[in-house]
Amino acid sequence: MATHSSTITLIVVLFTLQANGFLLDTVLNHLPHKVCYGDLGCFSNGPPFLDLLHRPLSVGPESPSTIQTRFLLYTRENGRQERVLDTSSGATMESSGFSTSRNTKIIVHGFTHNAHRAWVQNMTKELLIAGDFNVIAVDWQHGADLPYEQATANTRVVGAQIARLVQVSGADANTVHIIGHSLGAHVAGYAGERLSHLGRISGLDPASPYFENMDIQVRLDPSDADFVDVIHTDDGGLKNLGFGCTQELGHVDFYPNGGQKQPGCAGDAVDKLGSTSWAALTTLFDFYAEEETLACSHERSYMYYIESINSVCPFTAFKCPNADDFHAGKCLSCKGDTCRSRMGYHADKYSTMGSLYLETEPRATFCDYNYLINISTVNNFDGKLTLTLTGSNGTIGPTPLMEKNEPHLYNTIISKMFRSRLDIGNMETLSLHYEKIGTIIVSGSYPDDWQLLGISIWKADEQKRTSFKAYHKEVDNHNTTVFCAYGHSC
Ligand SMILES: *[C@@H]1O[C@H](CO)[C@@H](O)[C@H](O)[C@H]1NC(C)=O
Ligand SMILES: *[C@@H]1O[C@H](CO)[C@@H](O)[C@H](O)[C@H]1NC(C)=O
Ligand SMILES: *[C@@H]1O[C@H](CO)[C@@H](O)[C@H](O)[C@H]1NC(C)=O
Ligand SMILES: *[C@@H]1O[C@H](CO)[C@@H](O)[C@H](O)[C@H]1NC(C)=O
Repeated sequence: MATHSSTITLIVVLFTLQANGFLLDTVLNHLPHKVCYGDLGCFSNGPPFLDLLHRPLSVGPESPSTIQTRFLLYTRENGRQERVLDTSSGATMESSGFSTSRNTKIIVHGFTHNAHRAWVQNMTKELLIAGDFNVIAVDWQHGADLPYEQATANTRVVGAQIARLVQVSGADANTVHIIGHSLGAHVAGYAGERLSHLGRISGLDPASPYFENMDIQVRLDPSDADFVDVIHTDDGGLKNLGFGCTQELGHVDFYPNGGQKQPGCAGDAVDKLGSTSWAALTTLFDFYAEEETLACSHERSYMYYIESINSVCPFTAFKCPNADDFHAGKCLSCKGDTCRSRMGYHADKYSTMGSLYLETEPRATFCDYNYLINISTVNNFDGKLTLTLTGSNGTIGPTPLMEKNEPHLYNTIISKMFRSRLDIGNMETLSLHYEKIGTIIVSGSYPDDWQLLGISIWKADEQKRTSFKAYHKEVDNHNTTVFCAYGHSC
């Protein structure tokens, strides 16, 4: 069976190659074969690395001497000066400045990037502010170039080299945390697979093409480390031409803004291409190589992560069936601490597993605090409603809660989520501005004045409720009404 299906695959592959006018040696590289690279072991491009549906082009990885992987070490001790690690032995690593008494953070870039990209350097800086780590930026740019399928294969060698570095260093694998972006996330997976109890892998929008839905030996998965956290910012895969995986790959998977297109990223490549096919995908990656801004959503994953390292704002994320329910405010309250976590660097402080949701600002700083307002009303109501909230730390708003006709019948609770960069502190006063629209049914059944039973605001990041004095208060058309929080004198 296996032989049969791989023969079919091979025929398809050869057809594809012929159609694209590839050279003979390229064709040979696609035939099932095995390459061996000394103590890194042997790598076969056959199944599970070959898959008719998800990886029709499977080549062998290039040699370490072609990829020329370098490990760049940064520590507080050496003032964040770059040192190229000599990984021949534990002793040479120590003399390059590595210390087993420190925890280790390893950063791995993806397709066409290198370790001197601004984001890698910025992440290094933020990590060294957060703690006294060995920070190692892995540079594998000579293996990360076009064509994509070759870079895909090379990730296996780079992963093996990282695993060997950890073994040679004498550090406990438990104290090592690998942070990988795109293809780098799968590199981290290959490293973890070769180590027993690697501490943690953070996968930042792990690359989808040739990985999504593949066997767990091929892609990042929870068995690769004791804790695997993943941020999805450009999912959609082939169908929607996203660079990142849609499927869950970790113990906890974060889907900011639904996990697909990120706010503030209108220029993504997906908008520039009309079709969804392998050919379009290749074009997409060529674009990516040329123009980074076309992969804006894909790059957001590391921007969120970098911000999360030293940010006071917690990037709280909540377990939810889907992004729409999250947006509707249905997932913001949480019994115990098993239904929320923090996206990014601090995700390991919670034990929440599964798919988690949150929303962000379109530009840095990205993190928002999450609030839910509940308004219970006596009579029917519709119209535009605008909120302003004041607390010990400042003011949020004016924020529209309802912008278009949205009738609410008597005895219902109007429940709306709103977000702000501001941690409001202790809530003091709240004001509602009301503009009646009243065209929907019979205007008469929606009186101008609007009677309330109560208002409360749920500060979801702290799971804390504040109620306002609103019992039988009236909100008048074209007017602003102010409410005072219980426990605050006004
Ligand atoms: C580095 O990250 C910080 C925190 O997210 C951000 O404020 C800053 O603009 C970034 N700098 C660069 C050069 O990317
Ligand atoms: C005010 O905001 C700061 C920063 O967001 C936060 O650390 C602090 O706890 C807030 N104060 C109160 C009273 O919540
Ligand atoms: C707000 O109202 C909704 C809908 O009635 C309810 O399910 C939820 O528990 C309320 N939330 C809070 C924090 O009061
Ligand atoms: C708005 O409310 C204030 C205070 O309740 C009241 O004095 C004022 O007359 C109202 N204005 C209108 C136009 O209803």
